[in-house]
Amino acid sequence: STTLKAAASPRYFGAALGAGHLSNVSDPKFAEFGAAQFSGATPENEMKWDFTEPEQGVFTFDQANQVAAFAKANNQILRGHNLVWFSQLPDWVETLQGNDLLNAMNNHITTVMTQFKGQIFAWDVVNEPMADDGTLGPSPFLTQLGSGYIQTALTTARKADNTTFLYINDFNTEGVNAKSDGLLSIVQSLKALNLIDGIGFESHFIVGELPTDIQTNLQRFADAGVDVAITELDVRMTVPPSAADLEQQTKDYATVINACKAVSRCRGITTWGITDLYSWVPGTFPNMGAALLFDDSYNEKASFTSTINALLS
Ligand code: G3I
Repeated sequence: STTLKAAASPRYFGAALGAGHLSNVSDPKFAEFGAAQFSGATPENEMKWDFTEPEQGVFTFDQANQVAAFAKANNQILRGHNLVWFSQLPDWVETLQGNDLLNAMNNHITTVMTQFKGQIFAWDVVNEPMADDGTLGPSPFLTQLGSGYIQTALTTARKADNTTFLYINDFNTEGVNAKSDGLLSIVQSLKALNLIDGIGFESHFIVGELPTDIQTNLQRFADAGVDVAITELDVRMTVPPSAADLEQQTKDYATVINACKAVSRCRGITTWGITDLYSWVPGTFPNMGAALLFDDSYNEKASFTSTINALLS
């Protein structure tokens, strides 16, 4: 039977891979499936600021390197996730003001990108900057540095590594709405300065509640001159799942695959994990789960089959 990566080619089909799961000797299937099914990898947490610079100027790359080594050994494109985000910041970052935060941000971007130079297909330089209404969302970077922080971060990133694609990544921007309108206008100004190469659409969906205009929305970003990618796909539902929800999930995955395939600049699709067993969903939404393509025992779900079929169609 075919694999996600074979069916998706020439696009990549990736997964978020946690270093702890990859090295878990009591669950060798995680690494087996990670290698067999996927042509892309995103460290689920290991390249975030709290992991890579837990104390100011003290950089730790062990766990990020584990994921990078796995990706390399398995010929996977590696997405760098992420450099500037309001979440998963070490406490020391939150205390900095003005130029101190500016210098820390630039140093963080430069040091991390230099460390992984040559290994990263695309970097989520700025993660989740938007608010629902299309303005910039709350962040210490916005408060301390003003709305120019995005352009500053991307300028620093371009200087640090001009061989990788620079992305902004966000959620609830998959359809046409106020949030994606706001993001698009930022993208248009950044594109004019050659500071942006792609936009990541996380795509954390609820079963049966996908926007109906994903393709239209991806295309309008592509028309602004940037690549697009589905970066954190999952489709959650109430658990234990009903047969109806699992059936709807097959359609929802196919909808996303078809939207990406219809847009030539859609470079690839990443699911946010491999197995429902380790998905972030139940930890955040206690009565929800079953969001991925493999169940708790790594059985292929009906959504796996519909994804393969959509990729091949
Ligand atoms: O590192 C600590 C560890 O030291 C501690 O013992 C343990 C106890 O809870 O927590 C560990 O931190 C956890 C961290 O993942 C690393 O494993 C946090 O509790 C946990 O909340 C955190 O969750 C991650 C979440 O981002 C936090 O922002 C999820 O694994 C990860 O899937 C999720 O990913 C995000 C994307 O980066 C951005 N888009 C949304 C997506 C889903 O929230």
